Amino acid sequence: MQSQLRKDLLDAFTNAGEAYLSGQRIAELIGCSRTAVWKHIEELRKEGFELEAVRRKGYRIVRTPEKITADELRLGLKTNFIGKNVHYEESVESTQKIAHRLAYDNAPEGTVIIAEEQVSGRGRMDRKWHSPKYTGVWMSIILRPNIPLPKAPQLTLLAAVAIVQAIEDLTDLLPEIKWPNDILIRGKKVTGILTELEAEADRINSVIIGIGINVNPTIEDFPSELQEIATSLFVEKGEKVSRSDLIKRIFMNLEKLYLLYLEEGFLPIKLLWEGYAISIGRKITARTLSNSITGTAQGITDDGVLIMVDDHGKTHHVYSADIEL
Ligand code: BTN
Repeated sequence: MQSQLRKDLLDAFTNAGEAYLSGQRIAELIGCSRTAVWKHIEELRKEGFELEAVRRKGYRIVRTPEKITADELRLGLKTNFIGKNVHYEESVESTQKIAHRLAYDNAPEGTVIIAEEQVSGRGRMDRKWHSPKYTGVWMSIILRPNIPLPKAPQLTLLAAVAIVQAIEDLTDLLPEIKWPNDILIRGKKVTGILTELEAEADRINSVIIGIGINVNPTIEDFPSELQEIATSLFVEKGEKVSRSDLIKRIFMNLEKLYLLYLEEGFLPIKLLWEGYAISIGRKITARTLSNSITGTAQGITDDGVLIMVDDHGKTHHVYSADIEL
């Protein structure tokens, strides 16, 4: 866990933007001695941060490490609760599993579990989620919304919008959403979202949003069965994308959309989501574990449920399925 002093130091650099901060100024801002400031700066350097030191001006961070660190995630993060409490792990079975435990132990809303690698990453419908080391974003975010149980799937759609916007903010790529929660680029999957709930009777205790993003693997890094259907931001853009910058963007977009949602309901989120959706108006097949329906996707209900009209004109409400376009 990061010390409060370290958090305050990174917040001071965040607020300073491009400006230099003198050792004296930092000491005043975060309430410690100049020796302590120097010690923390040396530790940041050891972690892989590059700090420029200019006489009479002070320090400025010019480069952050490639490996995701709690310090790097703090730098530049302007949120009030999402990502303020981060559990960072090198290797885990699944970040979902840890998130469930922490949620049960009353972790505050906005707590995030991030891992460099998952050895048993989970996808929807009991599938495996390939999560190799250092190449992706594998994280679970704990939310505690005061909403009725049937509305929880709306948060999956909300998360998808936050991620699409984050990808757009950092790249010139054009990601699209395939209902309910796949994010595709040029028809290949780059991101999956798994939303799970802890609830008692009809009261939501926590919603755990698991996000998996293929950020920097090459196509050869994917197992052969995924090479035709999956892609990464690196493959599409031709350049590496900073995983920490992406995570921070997601935190900021997610917090903004979530607050909007709590204030104004699902409608503004639905409109944004529809702007990115590719399945709407198209002929699709929705496959569940037990059956499949072919028809035209009409749109989503106010609860985020997919509406389809089959070839006989019958309307179906699809709560969970895999969609083939
Ligand atoms: C899907 O099937 O499309 C959803 C994939 C969700 C993967 C993420 S990675 C972080 C979190 N931990 C898991 O085990 N799964 C989710």
